[in-house]
Amino acid sequence: MSIRLGVLISGSGTNLQAIIDRIASGTIDASIELVVSSRADAYGLMRAQAAGIQTLTMDKGFYDEEHSADRIIAAEMRSRSVDYILMAGYMRMVHAPLLDAFPNRIVNIHPALLPSFKGAHGIRDAYEYGVKIAGVTVHFADDRYDCGPIIAQRALAVEEGWTLDEFEAHIHEIEHDLYPEVVGLLVAGRVRVTAGGKVEILPT
Ligand code: GRF
Repeated sequence: MSIRLGVLISGSGTNLQAIIDRIASGTIDASIELVVSSRADAYGLMRAQAAGIQTLTMDKGFYDEEHSADRIIAAEMRSRSVDYILMAGYMRMVHAPLLDAFPNRIVNIHPALLPSFKGAHGIRDAYEYGVKIAGVTVHFADDRYDCGPIIAQRALAVEEGWTLDEFEAHIHEIEHDLYPEVVGLLVAGRVRVTAGGKVEILPT
């Protein structure tokens, strides 16, 4: 079964691109109905437009007014019958109006092994801490920053001597693999949130 996606971005959109590419190659049976950006200068908007995807840029004022952005995004996503919303480098929190409209249907990617290194600088923070095992987390979003049931994680053994740039490149490489993989699990209907608030991956 094909699923309909909405994607939230704020920046370069390389994760968005990874998903666009997998859809285009037929690896993922999904469509992206709308890309919403919290910033007008997000390069990801160009990527979406190049792929013929509708875009919407949220005016900064909507974020200043409590939950106004979430209400608009919820309405736009609903009107397009979106099944799942993917946060892909979206540098804003999601709140009740959007979370309630899409319960357990908003997914986020974080470039660290949660619950470690939450926040906007997960890659740098992990590198500077000197972790030997780093990684990436894909999880359902809730109204806290980088929290919510974990769907998938992938670890990376950090090699001696890596610069921050090298470390970051490895993290992004994993992101661009793991996020599409999780979308594939969603398409297959294999992701279930248990009563205990954990994610169970159903067998094929
Ligand atoms: C990614 O590292 C993502 O995990 C983090 O922000 C970055 C966004 O990159 N939340 P991009 O916009 O997908 O290129």
